[in-house]
Amino acid sequence: METIIRHLQGGPADDSLYREAADLIKAGELVAFPTETVYGLGGNGLLASSASKIYAAKGRPSDNPLILHIAERDVLPGLVREIPAGTESLMDAFWPGPLTLIFKKSKRVPRETTGGLDTVAIRMPSHPAALALIRAAEVPLAAPSANASGRPSPTKAIHVYEDLKGRIPLILDGGESPIGLESTIVDLSGLVPEILRPGYIGLPALQRVLGTVVLDPALLDIPGKDIAPRAPGMKYRHYAPRVPIFLLAGNAAQRAAYIKQKAREAKERHQRIAALVSQETLPLYQEDQEGHLLLLSLGERSRDESIAHALFGVLRQLDSLGLSQVYSETFESGPLGPAIMNRLRKAASFQYIQLDNNSEAEEQYD
Ligand code: TXA
Ligand code: MG
Repeated sequence: METIIRHLQGGPADDSLYREAADLIKAGELVAFPTETVYGLGGNGLLASSASKIYAAKGRPSDNPLILHIAERDVLPGLVREIPAGTESLMDAFWPGPLTLIFKKSKRVPRETTGGLDTVAIRMPSHPAALALIRAAEVPLAAPSANASGRPSPTKAIHVYEDLKGRIPLILDGGESPIGLESTIVDLSGLVPEILRPGYIGLPALQRVLGTVVLDPALLDIPGKDIAPRAPGMKYRHYAPRVPIFLLAGNAAQRAAYIKQKAREAKERHQRIAALVSQETLPLYQEDQEGHLLLLSLGERSRDESIAHALFGVLRQLDSLGLSQVYSETFESGPLGPAIMNRLRKAASFQYIQLDNNSEAEEQYD
C-alpha cells in the first residue's frame, strides 16, 4: 500500500483533507494525525476490525489497550459505565488537553479496542487537527502513538513515515507536536485516582483538582522490586535504541569530567560516543575530542518543556550515528522531571552510573 503524506495548512483548505481522512476511517482504514502530545494512529474506535488493523500496523501486542479520542464531552456517557467523582473537575481543568482518563467501559466499546480489559481510556486532545478529524469521522478515534511498537513516539509526520510507510494509507502532517511526550494517564475506575503514566500534567496539578491521587507503584522505580505496571503498555521495552545509553547521576562538573574521559577512551578505540546534555551545561564539554564526542543538546533545563519536546526526536536519531555508547544527563528536578525521566529511564534500560553518592552540588543540575 502506498502511504501518502498530506500537509495541513491550518485554514479552510484543510476541510477536504479531513473529509478524505474521515472517509478512510469510516471505511475501516487507518490515518495518522497530529496531536499536541505525539502523532496518533487513528481508526474507528467502535469497530473491532479497526483495532486489529492498528495492532497489525504497529506490530503491537493486542493485549495493550488503545486510547479513545473524543471531541465533545457529550459522547462520554455512551462509552463508559459510570462517571466517577472528580471526572467533571478534571475535564474542566484539563480537557481538551494532554490528560487521558480511565473508566469502566460500556458495551459499545469493543474488547479488541481495550485489549480485553473491562476499562477504557479516553482523552480529548487539544490539537485543532485532531479535533477536526474526530468530528469529521463522527466516531471516537482509537489512537495509539503512531510509531512501530518499541520505537520512540513520533513527534513529526516524517517519524510516522519512517515507521509505518507501506502499512497505512494516509498521514496528515500538522508540523511538530508541541509537547513531545504522551499524555498523563489517570485511572478513575478504582477507589482512589491513580496515575498510570506521568506526562505534561503533573502530580501537583492533579492534586489541586482531585485532592488525593496516588502513583502506580511501578512508576516509583524501587531498586530490586520489579512491579508490574497497571497500564499494560508501560511494561514493554520502549524507546530503547540499540546503542546502549547510560544515565549519569552526579553533579554537572562530575558528569562533564566523566564524559570527557569516556571520549578519550573512545578515541583510543577508534569509536565515537555521544552525550545528551542541556544548553546550560553544553559549555562544560566543549573541548576538542576530534570527533569522538558528539554533543547533542536536548534543550534548556530552565525550560524543561524544551527537553520534553526534543527528547523523542533525538532518541530516534541515535542508532544512525555510528555510536558505541551514549551518556545522558538526568532531568529530575523541573516540573516535567517525572515525565521526562520515565521515558529516559526506559530508553536507557534503567542503566545508571552513580558518580557521587552525597554530592550537594547535584542540586544545581539535578
Ligand atoms: O498522548 C497520548 O496519549 C498519545 C496520543 C496519540 O493521544 N497516545 C498514546 O497511546 O500514547 P499509546 O497507545 O501509545 O499509549 C496508551 C497507554 C498504553 O500504555 C496502554 O497500556 C495504556 O495507555 N492504556 C490504555 N487503555 C488502558 C486501560 N483501560 N487501562 C490501563 N492502561 C491503559
Ligand atoms: Mg505508544
